[in-house]
Amino acid sequence: MHQHLEKVLISEEEIVKRSKELGKEITDKYKDEKEPPILIALLKGSVPFLAELIKYIELDIEIDFMDVSSYGGGTESTRDIRILKDLDRSIKGRSIIIVEDIVDTGRTLQAVIKILENKGASTIEVVSLLDKPERREVEVEVQYIGFEIPNEFVVGFGLDYAEKYRNLPYVGVLHRNYY
Ligand code: IMP
Repeated sequence: MHQHLEKVLISEEEIVKRSKELGKEITDKYKDEKEPPILIALLKGSVPFLAELIKYIELDIEIDFMDVSSYGGGTESTRDIRILKDLDRSIKGRSIIIVEDIVDTGRTLQAVIKILENKGASTIEVVSLLDKPERREVEVEVQYIGFEIPNEFVVGFGLDYAEKYRNLPYVGVLHRNYY
């Protein structure tokens, strides 16, 4: 375990096992659809989870990336988001699965869903490695959840603190001395 961590919450083995289950669920859901879904991963935190998950989706999926950041200034409730990197191609009429690392307040997801609706997506679902339901401020539907976790600040498997710890192969709780 990394020395800055208090404990490991979810091991690499558990993440791999759960990713296989989610990949199968997504495969079963979309296997009879005319066109396979486009997975849109939100940079940067969802990259390791995307890489793990897509190995177990047995469909001719496409992937694309978006990077968004919350707009400074406003209060939490008026917070807007800014697109730092937009999609490469049109998603008009396509089924979308947003890939997230963690759903916390739900505001990022809510804003991204609105953007993708405006771009003409036909359906939008969400898969997230982690869910912190206690922190939710807005209601968002997350169809596929890897693990529900308590209200603790976690890092690893894509999740960072000040851009560090994304490369840890497990999810752990950062020790208080380090943030
Ligand atoms: P939301 O808009 O509040 O749902 O924020 C989601 C984003 O906040 C995630 O994509 C993460 O980048 C970040 N985040 C929320 N909780 C954590 C955490 O425990 N560790 C690291 N990043 C987090």
